Amino acid sequence: MLDLKKIRADFPILKRQVNGKPLVYFDNAATSQTPQQVIDVIVDYYSNYNANIHRGVHTLSQEATDKYEAARHTIQKHFNAAHAHEIIYTSGTTHSINLVASGFSSLLQKGDEIIVSALEHHSNIVPWQMLCEKTGAILKVIPMNQDGELVMTEYDKLLNENTKLVFVNHISNALGTINPIEEIIEKAHQVGAAVLIDGAQACPHVKPDVQALDVDFYVASAHKMCGPTGVGMLYGKETWLNKLPPYQGGGEMIAEVSFTKTTYAGLPHKFEAGTPNICGGIAFGAAIDYMNAIGFDAIAKYEHELLEYATKALLEIEGLKIYGTAKNKTSVVSFNLEGIHPYDVGTILDKLGIAVRTGHHCAQPIMEYFKIPGTVRASFAFYNTKEEIDTLVSGVKKAKMMLS
Ligand code: ALA
Repeated sequence: MLDLKKIRADFPILKRQVNGKPLVYFDNAATSQTPQQVIDVIVDYYSNYNANIHRGVHTLSQEATDKYEAARHTIQKHFNAAHAHEIIYTSGTTHSINLVASGFSSLLQKGDEIIVSALEHHSNIVPWQMLCEKTGAILKVIPMNQDGELVMTEYDKLLNENTKLVFVNHISNALGTINPIEEIIEKAHQVGAAVLIDGAQACPHVKPDVQALDVDFYVASAHKMCGPTGVGMLYGKETWLNKLPPYQGGGEMIAEVSFTKTTYAGLPHKFEAGTPNICGGIAFGAAIDYMNAIGFDAIAKYEHELLEYATKALLEIEGLKIYGTAKNKTSVVSFNLEGIHPYDVGTILDKLGIAVRTGHHCAQPIMEYFKIPGTVRASFAFYNTKEEIDTLVSGVKKAKMMLS
């Protein structure tokens, strides 16, 4: 059981009003809110030990370095990576994916095949298209069905000895579908392909175990899981990270530099050129600690209750259609009112203090599949309540009345 009163008190933003109404924040899939415990860590960093890391002998630099590296260990432990140097700090999921895509441009050949899924965010489509353009590799897509589930029998048909890479999200941002990543990884490995799982939408809801999954790369962003924006991580198996060339050149990522030859640093520094988001990395660790203190089992159970409650109540509204009806899904409800543009619904909900996302959710192929311009997406976090869902449902009814 979650202590909702106590949890909500941790989030100062939940006390604010929007357009004269109490904020109902249902745009958690875009970014989650930040608890005071994480805000305090950010304030403490800039108030007490702001300094560059890995560079200075002075006390502030050492303190900042120790906390930044301690946070790397927190991330390692959370994802159960075998080594801390398998955790690369990045600016977020998109950066992590581009790092891997760029690295593979020297490892792929014309005719190699890459598989993505029909449920991907643009950030897990475009970098691979760019990689295909550079290398002559061919992009293949696992199709989806009307429920927003991947058609796994088609995946089986796509796999062959030319398949070099498979990229799938753990959970779809637009529909909330939880993909069968264990099966996807196992089958890809049977043909010798490497797998990258985009965990941006999964990490606020579940605790992935990268060793149990035997995944080659797993990527995530701090801001989806109570941390700040501008920081994220790439987990990569040591063997793969050693095979990939550096992504960017600069300070920190070298062993020695001369005008005739430069040698690169070992992991993780090889991929961390330049001054990183030091405060962000430390706050990422604090966000993970915060969520673990609440407990991912309790979070998942409660969010499932919210999902069922919202689904049932919204479906009672005539003319409302939910997109994404997978058996296995997380707390995301994407919907439309018949004959009404999602943007108009979102605008009225905002007037009522309710924050939802409207549009294609950076997943245009999914919208194309359903032949819609976009959806209204309400995405719930562990600090949301059933009363807030009641407010959403009456807001949607009001929008329907005004716009019909
Ligand atoms: N990818 C984020 C979302 O789904 C921004 O809203």
